Amino acid sequence: MEGQNKKMIIRNCLVIRVLILFQIFSFFLLIIFPQIIQSEEEKSFTRQRSGQVIFTPHERSDSEPQQVHISLVGKDHMRVSWVTEDKNARSVVEYGTKQGGEYEAKAKGYHTSYNYFMYQSGKIHHVVIGPLKPNTNYFYRCGGLGPEFSFKTPPLNFPIEFVVVGDLGQTEWTTSTLKHVNSKDYDVFLLPGDLSYSDTQQPLWDSFGRLVEPYASRRPWMTTEGNHEIEILPVTEPTGFKAYNARWPNPHKESGSNSNLYYSFELAGTHIVMLGSYADFDDESEQYTWLVDDLAKVDRKKTPWVVVLLHAPWYNTNEAHQGEGESMRKSMEGLLYEARVDLVFAGHVHAYERFTRVYNNNEDPCGPMYVTIGDGGNREGLALSYKKPVSPLSLYREASFGHGRLRIVNETHAHWSWHRNNDNDAFVADGVWIQSLSSFKECWNTQHHNHVHHEEL
Ligand SMILES: *[C@@H]1O[C@H](CO)[C@@H](O)[C@H](O)[C@H]1NC(C)=O
Ligand SMILES: [Fe+2]
Repeated sequence: MEGQNKKMIIRNCLVIRVLILFQIFSFFLLIIFPQIIQSEEEKSFTRQRSGQVIFTPHERSDSEPQQVHISLVGKDHMRVSWVTEDKNARSVVEYGTKQGGEYEAKAKGYHTSYNYFMYQSGKIHHVVIGPLKPNTNYFYRCGGLGPEFSFKTPPLNFPIEFVVVGDLGQTEWTTSTLKHVNSKDYDVFLLPGDLSYSDTQQPLWDSFGRLVEPYASRRPWMTTEGNHEIEILPVTEPTGFKAYNARWPNPHKESGSNSNLYYSFELAGTHIVMLGSYADFDDESEQYTWLVDDLAKVDRKKTPWVVVLLHAPWYNTNEAHQGEGESMRKSMEGLLYEARVDLVFAGHVHAYERFTRVYNNNEDPCGPMYVTIGDGGNREGLALSYKKPVSPLSLYREASFGHGRLRIVNETHAHWSWHRNNDNDAFVADGVWIQSLSSFKECWNTQHHNHVHHEEL
């Protein structure tokens, strides 16, 4: 009996050693050939030449903050996040409305760090500051030293402007997109998944943090996860989202969510739901139950606009990633429809596509308008081929890098526009006025519901 146990242990040790060897081997393979992490579907279509990854070096001292970015927390607070190499650096933020080091307030936060295979992260600091005044410039410094940063808080009321960019990555395309984004002011940056494209190479998360710092330290960045945030490795990293959760925490507790992978927040008359394409979404799941509760709490008098973001699109006429959002659509589309969600933004497909208002594959005046905006500039390049003939639901589709802007003018009207990187800043490649469903009386009587359901039977 004893001998048998010993044999088992020895055999298990051997198995683990072989697995670790395999992992080291695949790790180096990934460094040399990062494209092997792509799925079969991703290889089966041609894309425009992919952008070279730009590695953004660390140029400050070890104790100075790097990768500074901010995100909204609750109605009047901001989370400031940054990384230091120095383990003794403090998690404090000094801030105020005066420029030049005269700070009126100071807040303490916490730090975290993580190991990923052979990589050890720096000290990752998160400090929530506030209450802050709306539509106000603040100046701040992290950890008591290093450069002064500044940001503007979003307005309390309309108008408000969101920039929406998916599948950002860190290439020359990314740089071009961010330059275009910065050429015109906006309030909040929304990112429906696929941030750094580190794909298990953790130093690329640090590089991404440094690349986006000039933008993400100035305006709040609100994200949800894409498939490139998963980063599961056999044996050592079985759960996924390690880097994403440590570096890009979302205000999920504030919206009653137990997971960093889905949450909601409200500002300036807009309720924004960040769904998780890579968390369970079937009708028994926590995400589903949370979404039911979250949508039930929406008060359209307070937030006439309801916007949803998620990674894998539910409607998509590109050849790339066909059907990947389908099971989530089947599970959750009814909830969004009944709640009269105005807009759904997705990423994942590296192109731009705008649909009409849709429910259950039919044009429906009370359904959300769907937009795919996965053309931020990652290294995999563009998704160039589309299904033919064009679906009548798809009103505009094009594989070019760019970004979108949602300018909510008032309770009833918003303007959506798409801006190509190839065009000059003022040019709008695609633009459309949208009316909030909260102002469509015919969408709120049950008669209409029944009618719609009836037609589909
Ligand atoms: C909202 O904005 C639209 C577009 O600018 C305008 O036509 C409409 O009159 C505005 N509504 C209100 C209530 O101000
Ligand atoms: Fe993706």
